[in-house]
Amino acid sequence: MKIASLILSLIAATSAQYYNETSAPFKLVVTSKDGSINDTLSACHTGAALESLCLSRSNTTSKPNPSNPASFHFNTSVYAQPPSPPLGPSGILTWILPSIPPIPSSVFFNYDPTTNIAVPILGPGSESPQILTFDNLGKLAVQGYIDWSANPPNGNGGPKAYYRWYACQTYYAGYQYETLAWGLGPGKPENPTCVEVNVTRVFV
Ligand SMILES: *[C@@H]1O[C@H](CO)[C@@H](O)[C@H](O)[C@H]1NC(C)=O
Ligand SMILES: *[C@@H]1O[C@H](CO)[C@@H](O)[C@H](O)[C@H]1NC(C)=O
Ligand SMILES: *[C@@H]1O[C@H](CO)[C@@H](O)[C@H](O)[C@H]1NC(C)=O
Ligand SMILES: *[C@@H]1O[C@H](CO)[C@@H](O)[C@H](O)[C@H]1NC(C)=O
Ligand SMILES: *[C@@H]1O[C@H](CO)[C@@H](O)[C@H](O)[C@H]1NC(C)=O
Repeated sequence: MKIASLILSLIAATSAQYYNETSAPFKLVVTSKDGSINDTLSACHTGAALESLCLSRSNTTSKPNPSNPASFHFNTSVYAQPPSPPLGPSGILTWILPSIPPIPSSVFFNYDPTTNIAVPILGPGSESPQILTFDNLGKLAVQGYIDWSANPPNGNGGPKAYYRWYACQTYYAGYQYETLAWGLGPGKPENPTCVEVNVTRVFV
């Protein structure tokens, strides 16, 4: 028990230092193909020191008023695998929770096994972050190494960028927001409110 918790705290300490190189601040712009969505992402309270990535101009039950765009950073590591162009280095999306003292936070994906979207959430530290990357156009992507559509699935093709982002009405810990979401697999989300979007970094 003691050893297990010691190992856990060692892992936590190691991963907390791993992505320690931070970028200049930027906003994240969310756009749909038809132009109906052209917004930025904000950090919306969704529990103690937890935030959803909500659309700044959205008007939902838990956020009836527009909010300010969040200022994000991208943390990378000198130890991470070298980037495979046109993708840049892999890293974690970070944000500093304005509190006393400020709390460095990073995005993890929250999965619900009953549906086919994951909801990105900002939480303290970087214990279980989602590894992300930006391409040469500044578009946010997830890198995958496995071809799950092959029979049998294999990892022969090398890293590939996936852009399965959606803007959806989501529900997390009792909060209803219009947030960024990630589609699990190539199919359409079950959630009827989801609209396909691109997420682009714009330095401030
Ligand atoms: C990101 O990097 C900065 C600079 O090293 C560090 O202060 C911050 O804690 C890191 N953020 C996270 C969530 O690890
Ligand atoms: C990040 O950690 C590495 C290895 O511990 C160290 O060499 C580097 O200076 C650190 N970078 C920052 C910005 O703290
Ligand atoms: C995202 O951007 C790519 C070009 O980089 C474009 O082909 C695609 O249609 C865009 N998707 C959306 C949802 O805007
Ligand atoms: C999105 O809005 C910005 C201003 O907030 C504008 O400059 C840009 O042209 C718009 N893009 C689209 C595709 O409508
Ligand atoms: C948000 O939506 C509600 C319900 O439709 C409406 O009453 C309210 O005026 C809206 N708020 C803003 C700031 O547009």
